[in-house]
Amino acid sequence: MNAHDTAVFGATALSEREIEKLSLPTSLAEGLPGRTYYDPSFYELERKHVFAAGWTGIGFASDVPNVGDVVPVSVADYELILVRAKSGEVKCYHNICRHRGMKLVKGKGNVKTIRCSYHCWTYGLEGNLLATPSIAGVNESQAEGFDLSQLSLVEVRIGQYLDVIFANIDGKAKSLDEFLKPVRERLEPIYDFTILKPTPDGTGRGSRDFAVNWKIVVEGGIEDYHLPFVHKAFDHSKDYSSEIGGSVYSGFSSRRSLVDAQKRYATKVADGNELPFFPSMVETGIAQTVILFVFPATIITCTPNYMSLSLQLPRGPELTHYTSKTYFIGDSATSDAFAKLREENTIYWKQVLDEDDGPWRQVQAMARNREEIGLPSRFSPHWEVALHNFQKTVAEKTSSVS
Ligand code: FES
Ligand SMILES: [Fe+2]
Repeated sequence: MNAHDTAVFGATALSEREIEKLSLPTSLAEGLPGRTYYDPSFYELERKHVFAAGWTGIGFASDVPNVGDVVPVSVADYELILVRAKSGEVKCYHNICRHRGMKLVKGKGNVKTIRCSYHCWTYGLEGNLLATPSIAGVNESQAEGFDLSQLSLVEVRIGQYLDVIFANIDGKAKSLDEFLKPVRERLEPIYDFTILKPTPDGTGRGSRDFAVNWKIVVEGGIEDYHLPFVHKAFDHSKDYSSEIGGSVYSGFSSRRSLVDAQKRYATKVADGNELPFFPSMVETGIAQTVILFVFPATIITCTPNYMSLSLQLPRGPELTHYTSKTYFIGDSATSDAFAKLREENTIYWKQVLDEDDGPWRQVQAMARNREEIGLPSRFSPHWEVALHNFQKTVAEKTSSVS
């Protein structure tokens, strides 16, 4: 924040009045003020009290399938490494050398050890410091009284649900199982996740940066209101409900006939081939979609024929890295016979995000003007109850701190 910003926009955290207005019923409530979308000091509150304090989805276990696979992850300016350790477990460390603080892993790869490129300190996959070459002179790799066992990489607390690796960076949150209980109770009676698989050919994968605050990406997906106005392929869902799971999730669900669902989710192609439905859809004849935005920024999209997991990883107040993976049912994930359908589905979702990018950028650009003239945003009481709940959760987490 520069001096001008401070003078014009004043305090960072939400004021009591702003919280009061946000807490009104959805049709009357006023949304988060403009500065919360760009102000570095509000972002700082979010880094600590939202991203480090909660359970944040940071990566996919299937991206590190083999022992020695490493992938660097940057989330809210925390630099982390995901590693498949020798035990077969996924581990997460801060991506910082214990010597002088060099960033250790710069790209995805498969390694036997993690070696710092600066002075060559070398760590095992379990994070233990193995070697400090020439630390005590030329070819003298052991210094007296220098205890390697005290200098392991700093481990980050993680857990896994579905394919998502969740991290609790400050190590103080309640257990992941407890946190995700309402999510599992909502989804698992409807969707049999055991029959899903990732694709072997890179279809169903999307990764890109959006030059907007992370909340704009989340808010852009959490309502169906904009669909027919922004997306060529979509219409409004007639049978639509908000999904509210307190501070754990916000989202929405919709129901359609099986035929309508095939159109909506691009799961049938011209040659007549079609993606299989979850068995519960065929039994009931009702195609259900449930999309839960697990706070802060992990989206579990369950459609009648597949599931997508997407993570919105902040990289500063006005940049968000989006990454997602889609998992299809049984053979439809792996067989060549479904390759075209998987590809079309991937293109379809890419196009949807292309269409979202323009409005999101404009909303981001207007945030400063909105703050300057004190213009609050508002909510549709039909479509945006979940969006409202999401914003209330942001407010709760960032203002319950001194
Ligand atoms: S900073 Fe890593 S070995 Fe020196
Ligand atoms: Fe959209």
